[in-house]
Amino acid sequence: MVIKKICCIGAGYVGGPTCSVIALKCPDITVTVVDKSKERIAQWNSEKLPIYEPGLDEVVRQCRGINLFFSTNIATAIKEADLIFISVNTPTKTFGNGKGRAADLKYVESAARIIADVATGHKIVVEKSTVPVRAAESIMNVLRANQRSGVSYQILSNPEFLSEGTAIDNLLNADRVLIGGEDTNEGNAAVEELCWVYEHWIPRINIITTNTWSSELSKLAANAFLAQRISSINSLSAVCEATGANVSEVAMAVGRDSRIGPKFLQASVGFGGSCFQKDILNLVYICECLNLPEVAAYWQQVIDINEYQKSRFSAKIIESLFNTVTDKQIAILGFAFKKDTGDTRESPAIHVAKTLLDEGAKLHIYDPKVVIFNISCYYFNVENCQILEDLTHPYITDEPENVKDSITIHSNAYSATSGTHAIVVCTEWDEFTALDFQKIYKNMIKPAYVFDGRMILNHEELAKIGFVVHTIGKRMSRTGINRSWGTPYRV
Ligand code: NAD
Ligand code: UDX
Repeated sequence: MVIKKICCIGAGYVGGPTCSVIALKCPDITVTVVDKSKERIAQWNSEKLPIYEPGLDEVVRQCRGINLFFSTNIATAIKEADLIFISVNTPTKTFGNGKGRAADLKYVESAARIIADVATGHKIVVEKSTVPVRAAESIMNVLRANQRSGVSYQILSNPEFLSEGTAIDNLLNADRVLIGGEDTNEGNAAVEELCWVYEHWIPRINIITTNTWSSELSKLAANAFLAQRISSINSLSAVCEATGANVSEVAMAVGRDSRIGPKFLQASVGFGGSCFQKDILNLVYICECLNLPEVAAYWQQVIDINEYQKSRFSAKIIESLFNTVTDKQIAILGFAFKKDTGDTRESPAIHVAKTLLDEGAKLHIYDPKVVIFNISCYYFNVENCQILEDLTHPYITDEPENVKDSITIHSNAYSATSGTHAIVVCTEWDEFTALDFQKIYKNMIKPAYVFDGRMILNHEELAKIGFVVHTIGKRMSRTGINRSWGTPYRV
């Protein structure tokens, strides 16, 4: 079989960019991305795409209407496709068995059921979503139990490793593409078909093939390893603050060991994003179900340190501001979980903002992209609503009206910081490093504080201007006053 048509179920942060790049690199293949959300599909077909991702607009512009289509006609796209990616969301379960830890596979199951209902001929079904180990078996069970004559399936696992903010570059120059399949003639043939798609632009040596379960587990393992590095350096940032060591210097020295390497050693207010926490919790749950409590406890610590880091940073802001932020004006710079994305899922900014709101602070929030790009805005017809939606979510508050009254969303950093007691940097947007802090200082209430949760600002310059500066993993001093965050270290 030669793959001529691909359907992708799920037009989200993964389905959209991944299929846009496949369309770009495979002009001989027609790619249709489908979603049950009419609003999302309308945005993919508009000038303002539903997600902000550097380089994405250009790729979509080149292919849309030629060999790349976005549609809500799920059944037709499935019927016509030779290969179907399942790229739906797999959030953490919020109720029932495994609540708060297990992955909720209801969207994967619903995608499998639609395929079973409408498929004709032979289909290669590819798990693109991040799933628990052996999820392919559950998908196959749904497909087989509903199989009609003349229909056959092969299931592959092809997890996605892109990072938001760099998705297009990650897809174009992937370190590796991982494809897992059944070790049978039919399974190997399906693996080869998918390899052929990626070989349009990925060197074969970078396409790894494994058994299905290894592929599924490798995705969880990769995210767990990456998050573990961040929690490791964040745990050491607390030691640095208590001792006078500098976490950037420690990270640099440790990362120069070629066995360790320098990446993912940037201490921060904590990791966020839709993947790390969800996937580690999923891994922890799987280990518990497999009666491997020691392994579960090991990975749980990665999450626990992340919670500790977010709480530690939030507590230090309050403590530094004379132990009360009630009615204080505080600017939050950055609300996305990292730079170059408008995504706020599990953003550490939510934790920091919630803590400050609980203490009675008035928040002035600015983010360069969350403000503008927001899928939910279409439902509420309000710009800026993602931030409000996050902070008034029932998990965050049971007093949404009070929260709304305590938040102002700004369209630039100067207006957000004007008249405030403190600035809290939650996202490492490049534009924050280029701000005129002299001007900002003049318009703030004194003493003016900066809490740099991303270690991106020039702290010495800020201190010279007059700011009281706090950051992660480094003791700050001004006029000889030790502004250590930790318990004073005594030998
Ligand atoms: P997302 O929430 O942005 O998109 C998922 C889309 O699937 C939504 O638009 C939803 O409407 C649609 N959908 C759900 N059920 C459907 C159905 N039955 N029929 C049609 N459409 C349906 O999610 P995402 O961030 O793209 O993540 C998708 C998967 O990829 C998840 O498993 C995630 O863990 C994994 N992943 C995400 C990233 C990332 O950076 N976001 C990276 C790697 C892997
Ligand atoms: C992650 C994985 O990197 C990617 O391979 C997977 O496919 C999806 O999950 P993503 O969540 O998009 O990607 O972004 P990532 O760059 O990994 O950052 C995650 C969080 O960790 C962000 O909040 C980021 O600011 C934080 N981080 C990252 C640090 O705090 N320090 C670092 O050194 C690196």
